[in-house]
Order: sequence, then structure tokens, then C-alpha cells
Amino acid sequence: MSSISSTVMEPVESGSEDSSQNFVVQSPLICGLPDDIALFCIARVPRKYHALLKCVSKRWRELLCSEGWHSYRRKHNLNETWIYAFCRDKFEQLSCYVLDPNLSKRCWKRVQGIPPCSLKRKGMGFEVLGKKVYLLGGCGWVEDATDEVYCYDATMNTWSEAAPLSTARCYFACEVLDEKIYAIGGLGSNSSDPHSWDTYDPHTNSWRSHSDPNVVPDIEDSIVFDGKIYIRCGSAVSSHAVVYEPSNGTWQHADADMVSGWRGPAVVVDGTLYVLDQSSGTRLMMWQKDRREWVAVGRLSPLLTRPPCQLVAIEENIFVIGKGLSTVVLDVGNAGHVGGVMVSSSVPKITSDDDVISCKLVAA
Ligand SMILES: *[C@@H]1O[C@H](CO)[C@@H](O)[C@H](O)[C@H]1NC(C)=O
Ligand SMILES: *[C@@H]1O[C@H](CO)[C@@H](O)[C@H](O)[C@H]1NC(C)=O
Repeated sequence: MSSISSTVMEPVESGSEDSSQNFVVQSPLICGLPDDIALFCIARVPRKYHALLKCVSKRWRELLCSEGWHSYRRKHNLNETWIYAFCRDKFEQLSCYVLDPNLSKRCWKRVQGIPPCSLKRKGMGFEVLGKKVYLLGGCGWVEDATDEVYCYDATMNTWSEAAPLSTARCYFACEVLDEKIYAIGGLGSNSSDPHSWDTYDPHTNSWRSHSDPNVVPDIEDSIVFDGKIYIRCGSAVSSHAVVYEPSNGTWQHADADMVSGWRGPAVVVDGTLYVLDQSSGTRLMMWQKDRREWVAVGRLSPLLTRPPCQLVAIEENIFVIGKGLSTVVLDVGNAGHVGGVMVSSSVPKITSDDDVISCKLVAA
């Protein structure tokens, strides 16, 4: 029984708790079935029903909220990716919505419970590790940059406070590389070191601070591409990019030809970098690494997209998410032709003019 069942029973951070002991005294997940068979069945229920499954019993609730459930689903490729969008409404309040892209009738749903102190903050970072979405730093009209970090657990549907940044940051770059969060540059209240960046290791639940002269406070955008972090920095007039070399932990200047076409939200699909050029209409561009040039993949119908947009990709589908959560899905695996208007499907928009400031994926 028991390698699987005990995995499920083991709370991640415990260590000391004797989980097999717990397991013996508990009633079975499903009457008359060994727990590993029960788990085999329950883990195959689609994610959209998980909220219901949690209502079955305390035992099921604990199971679905456990780290073991999450890793079992991931290990057996059962996890499903949902999109989380952070928006700002006309009162400048932060809100969060979630979309299950597998539903035949796709629709955005509001996620409740954002910590009140984050609601008015600007310049926050958003990142995902495992099943958790992190809201990092930020600042307000009268509030200096903060080091506070909040964390949303997508399977438990709960918010909590997480280990604070080692440096208070606002309008900074935030990326995940090798299962660590990087918080880079930006404006801090105590900017003793304007060239610093912090890394968060979830295994130690702690931040480390680093410094490099090529990191500047002025951040425009960032992306992970080819196993490296690119940040575009400087003012609009003299924009340039630097790239983080994980092999030796240094920041180098990025190649100008690649940076020249990085003029909008970017996303990587199957190792290829795509950028949405929103300067006149919306046009999807692709970086051809071997020929070192940008090519136009196609134009998106102006009736469907509402810039400014954010991009995320699930497999070969790029989700273009604009104002009011207007959402267009492009299958770049099938996009085929270059030029012309691309074929796409869309998600009914919700009635709002909210600006989408960040979109993240959580597989669970
Ligand atoms: C900034 O510096 C002041 C004094 O130097 C200190 O009291 C405060 O805690 C610092 N704030 C942060 C967020 O590091
Ligand atoms: C770090 O690696 C990059 C790319 O391999 C190289 O260009 C750079 O010189 C290295 N820097 C140091 C300090 O070793």
C-alpha cells in the first residue's frame, strides 16, 4: 500500500510526524477499497470538480490540499493548467480571475480573498512555484516599496503571508528559473544597492541577495528564454537588455538583434520566442534564432483583441489576454502561414474595462 498512500499522507514540511501511524488509524478514503486504489481513482477526476471533492469528507479535503496529491497528479501527468490573471479596475483595485481552458464553455471566474493591503499596491511582482502564486513587493501612493510577499495556494484556495524579500522592491522584474523566484532591480525604499537582485528558494523558504553592476533599477520587461533570464531595462529612449547566465551567476549584455524586436509582451512556445507587437494593431512576431531575425507570424483581428495584452502559452496555444479579460487563443502549431489574419478562437469577455497586468499558469 504503501508507497503511494504514505506519499499522500506526508505533509511536506512535517518531517517529524509519523504519517504511517496517522494512516492506520484513519478511515479509508473509499469504503472497501485500499487507499492506493482509491487515490488512483480520485486523482483522475478533472480539476474542475476538485472543489466539490473537498466537500466529501475531512479526509478527502486533507487529501486534495496535500502536497502529495499535487505531486501524484504531476507525476502521472494528470495535472491541468489553469490561467490566473491579475487585473486593475478603474478604481485602481487589484483583482484576480481564473480560467479553465479545457472547459467547452470557457469563462473567467473571480478569485476572492486578495490580502487587503495588496489591493492598492502597484509595481508588484507575480510568480508561480508549484501550486502557489506569489504576490511580491510593490508600493503605493503614500507607501514606500515593501518587502512583503503573499502567496495564494491554488489547490487550497487560501492566501497567506510568505517569507519577505531581502530587499523592498517596486516595479521590478520577477521570473522563475530552476525552481527559484528571482526578484530583480526595481525601485526600493532603501536603495543602498541599486544593482541588486534576490532569489527565493522554496525548500529553505528564504531569500538571498546578490549584486551585479549590469543590473539597473529601471526595469521594463523580463522573460525566461533558453534557460536564461532576459530583462529589458533603461528608459524608452535608450532601451537595452541584459541576460542572466545561470552557469556563472553573472549578467551580460544581450544581443541587440534579438532585443530590437522585443517590443511587447513575450512568450516562449516550444523553445521559440514570440512577441506581440501592439504598436499598430496587434501582430504576432517570432524570433528565428538560427537566422537571427524577427518574422511576422500574422495579424490578429482587431475585433477580438483589446490591447494592452498579456501572453501565456499552454502547449502550442498562445492565449492573448487584453482589456476586460478579452481572450484570444492562437494555435501556433497550426498557424502555418506567415502574414494575413490569424485564425483564432476566443473566450466570451466579462463586462469590464479592467487592465490585465499579469497572467500566470498553475498546473494542479
Ligand atoms: C529602511 O531603512 C530604515 C533605516 O535605515 C529601516 O528602519 C527600515 O526598516 C528599512 N526598510 C526596509 C523595507 O528595509
Ligand atoms: C559567464 O558566462 C558567459 C557566457 O558563457 C561569459 O560570456 C562570461 O564571460 C562569463 N563571466 C564570467 C565572469 O565568468
